[in-house]
Amino acid sequence: MVEQRIENDLTILEIMTYGCPVLKQKAEGITDIDEDVLSLAQNMLWTMYSAPGIGLAAPQVDRSIRLIVVDLSVGEKKADLFILINPEIVQREGSCVMEEGCLSVPEINEKVVRPERVVIKGTDLEGKERVIEAKDLLARVFCHETDHLNGTLFIDHLSPLKKDLIKKKLKKSSEDDRS
Ligand code: NI
Repeated sequence: MVEQRIENDLTILEIMTYGCPVLKQKAEGITDIDEDVLSLAQNMLWTMYSAPGIGLAAPQVDRSIRLIVVDLSVGEKKADLFILINPEIVQREGSCVMEEGCLSVPEINEKVVRPERVVIKGTDLEGKERVIEAKDLLARVFCHETDHLNGTLFIDHLSPLKKDLIKKKLKKSSEDDRS
């Protein structure tokens, strides 16, 4: 897929899928909130909304830097939007199981154990430190996206046997795409 340009220099970026090396890398910390970071954040938002998805991490658009966007309302409610630079989960509590998917692992949904409540710390686009307490689905999405920055996919949380089956399925579907 070629990048799709829309108005005002907004671009829908290509989403990297399972097998792309960038998804296995530990992403670099961001030291400067420059034009590049600001425009990447905007483009990631567009990309997430158009997918549609509720979270996206920079490595998923082939940028190995520590930036995530999360919006459970998919653009409906401004208060639901979080753009975080160098996010870090600083507290985890409880556990719950829920089915999870990922734009980088298409068509796979599996139950994953995650904390019920987390506290995440990061910086917003204005350079202000943000500390956010999140529960349930929001906590889950923060964990999932922060995982991406450490080269971890949700299927890495599954049993080796299950992961193996999924890998075979993903390999087969990418072969089918090529044929
Ligand atoms: Ni994901």
